[in-house]
Amino acid sequence: MNPKVGSWWPVVASNQLGRRPLGVTRFGEPLVFWRNGADVVCMSDRCPHRGAALSLGHVNKQAGSIVCPFHGLEFAADGRCTCIPVEQDTAIPADFAAASFPVREADGYIWVWRGPLPQGELPEVAIHPETQGMRHGDSSGNWNAHYTRCIENVCDFSHLPFVHKTTIGLFKKDWVIQINMQDVPGGFRARLVQDGKSAQSLEFLYPNRWLLRLAPRIMLGLVFAPIDETHTFVYGRTWYRLPLPGIQWLMNGYTRFSQFMVFREDWPIVASQIPGDVLTATDEKLLPSDAPVIAYRKLHHAHN
Ligand code: FES
Ligand SMILES: [Fe+2]
Repeated sequence: MNPKVGSWWPVVASNQLGRRPLGVTRFGEPLVFWRNGADVVCMSDRCPHRGAALSLGHVNKQAGSIVCPFHGLEFAADGRCTCIPVEQDTAIPADFAAASFPVREADGYIWVWRGPLPQGELPEVAIHPETQGMRHGDSSGNWNAHYTRCIENVCDFSHLPFVHKTTIGLFKKDWVIQINMQDVPGGFRARLVQDGKSAQSLEFLYPNRWLLRLAPRIMLGLVFAPIDETHTFVYGRTWYRLPLPGIQWLMNGYTRFSQFMVFREDWPIVASQIPGDVLTATDEKLLPSDAPVIAYRKLHHAHN
């Protein structure tokens, strides 16, 4: 996966990464994340010596390096090899390095820059202002589908009465909808209009963040981290501002339960869609009620 235009992608939750290196597959590649003091480092999880997983090694805190478990070679945060234990008398070639990627930690996620680097400084990570300072409950899960299909599924209002007829589509049997679209910085907002009145509105921020205003004090968020062509790791979050005793416990439980119940209904359908990446789904017949899907495809095509 190599986009034409670079972006910051949240791909790991901050609380997944402790003192030990974390190995995960993202963008179809094995990556290792590790903490170097206050910074997070992201590298290819493949030792340039003979291909072992660096994530099975450990962090040398004093030296600020990750140590390969196989022959003890060490790599600094920029990927450079800094130590070859059994050849300490020999100079290390300057190009002996593990691939490393720009990374930031913000808003409870670890973000990786994917795609060509811009001229000059990298942009700031765009945090959603409305959710700042709100409390939240988290959940996560694996979807067996390409990330573009998962994103489209949550931007799709018209599947609710069919896929979710016993949950969130329960009272939508004879639903006729209109969708108002609006551009927002970095993405779009889709507002559902029912009986002439505005109902829910969702927001999508490229490349992989989705937000739904459920009520004035409750918002749902999803982050879609591409694993490979047929798997996506989804981080769910419910933000709330409700000053009731025990609410945190209740909301955390609700977040996990509702996401599991609802997504379970989506999984088989989304996994069945052919092709995976919507970039090549050029023969599909999109309808006016697919307006958010059309808006997503426009962004996806512009970046790939
Ligand atoms: S494979 Fe990593 S040190 Fe040899
Ligand atoms: Fe759904």
